[in-house]
Amino acid sequence: MLNVMNLSKSFGGIHAVQGVGFKINKGEIVSLIGPNGAGKTTCFNLITGFYSPSSGSVRWMGKEIIGLKPY
Ligand SMILES: Nc1ncnc2c1ncn2[C@@H]1O[C@H](COP(=O)(O)OP(=O)(O)OP(=O)(O)O)[C@@H](O)[C@H]1O
Ligand SMILES: [Mg+2]
Repeated sequence: MLNVMNLSKSFGGIHAVQGVGFKINKGEIVSLIGPNGAGKTTCFNLITGFYSPSSGSVRWMGKEIIGLKPY
């Protein structure tokens, strides 16, 4: 259902998210955990389209959604 591939986001010299990838199947409930500053919120902002990634791809139901508006 959701396929995140090699997602990266840098803010200047800060690599907030680097090479993140995972798949979530229909019906699965998944948590994203990590210490403060690990990049969790940035990862969600990339998936939801509030930020554009430095590299990588997000597919929802097989369709690329990077580049679409958040709504
Ligand atoms: N808009 C931004 N501009 C510059 N740096 C940012 C920005 N947003 C996040 N960062 C940096 O990216 C890194 C990841 O931050 P992020 O907020 O994604 O972490 P987090 O896992 O959500 O942390 P927390 O558990 O504190 O919520 C941190 O080093 C943070 O300072
Ligand atoms: Mg956060």
